[in-house]
Amino acid sequence: MATLRFGCVLLAALAALLAAAAGGDPGKIGVCHGRVGGNLPAPEAAAALLRSNGITKARLFLPDPAVLPAFAAAGIDLTVGVPNENLTFLSAAGPEGALQWLRSNGLAAGPVAGRLRYLAVGNEVLYNNQFYAPHLVPAMRNLHAALASLGLDGAVKVSSAHASSVLASSYPPSAGAFDAAQMDVLRPMLRLLADTGAPFMLNAYPFISHVGDPANVPLAYALGASDEPVVRDGALAYAGLFDATVDAVVAALEREGFGGVPVAVTETGWPTAGHPAATPENAAAYNGRMAERAARGVGTPRRPGAPVEVFLFDLYDEDGKTGAEFERHFGIFRADGVKAYNINFA
Ligand SMILES: *[C@@H]1O[C@H](CO)[C@@H](O)[C@H](O)[C@H]1NC(C)=O
Repeated sequence: MATLRFGCVLLAALAALLAAAAGGDPGKIGVCHGRVGGNLPAPEAAAALLRSNGITKARLFLPDPAVLPAFAAAGIDLTVGVPNENLTFLSAAGPEGALQWLRSNGLAAGPVAGRLRYLAVGNEVLYNNQFYAPHLVPAMRNLHAALASLGLDGAVKVSSAHASSVLASSYPPSAGAFDAAQMDVLRPMLRLLADTGAPFMLNAYPFISHVGDPANVPLAYALGASDEPVVRDGALAYAGLFDATVDAVVAALEREGFGGVPVAVTETGWPTAGHPAATPENAAAYNGRMAERAARGVGTPRRPGAPVEVFLFDLYDEDGKTGAEFERHFGIFRADGVKAYNINFA
């Protein structure tokens, strides 16, 4: 038993090392920079704000030519979204077309290519854009081949960001299973992720789960702030929905035979307005806990010792966002660079 435990600790440490080698440093938190708004600061100011807060990783939702050079120049590691609208082209165009796409978006050479860590190919395609689903894995393969032809496939990992609805079952976490209707796309995707050392990317919003079902997802559980474990799952106990969601994905990966694939949470966050639970205090509690666990390299109950790489949403409020009012209030910083609430990233 002692040997087994020691072996597990070694394995977990190895997994953390491998995860660190594959992407950025999972122990450092990243921040998403959405730009759907009319009053956003200049890219240079956004980059300087990140750096002055000790944040060295950012996710952009598209290869924005105005933002990429400024962030790269500031030494910020980049996760860049490949827009859904580009997937048909990228799947049909072969590795040469993918290389052309990387070049024309300034991602193939120079300082931006040097800072590139992940391509997030498509955003939540399986959730809200089934039209693009058949093009997703071919586009990922072509982009990976194009990066390999540039010698960048070691430094830049190709994945795709999923909504939590990619799981058909998530309760308890050990029952985690992918949506069977999506397996035709997911199975070859998981194979590709495993073969190329890329993480499974998940967008997870305990806030939205709480808003949708407050009776079953109490505020404290969504915040990860329960004093007592809320969910007991065999020997494992969960005090927060974030851990439970990540572990449900881990269980789903294991179920498909891909237990070695790391999970990266490419979006999570908590808004400050637009709903009774959306307060600066709750946002500070949730995002502050995320920053702290990243800094301490905390894993999940199912994978202790394997820190989960996390990108917080969002750098600034985006006043051009549609949908519920809270969608426009995820910003950690105000446009003038002042924190929207008390949070530290050190
Ligand atoms: C990629 O998508 C953008 C819109 O997001 C569009 O303007 C551009 O033409 C597309 N490029 C290709 C090659 O499909």
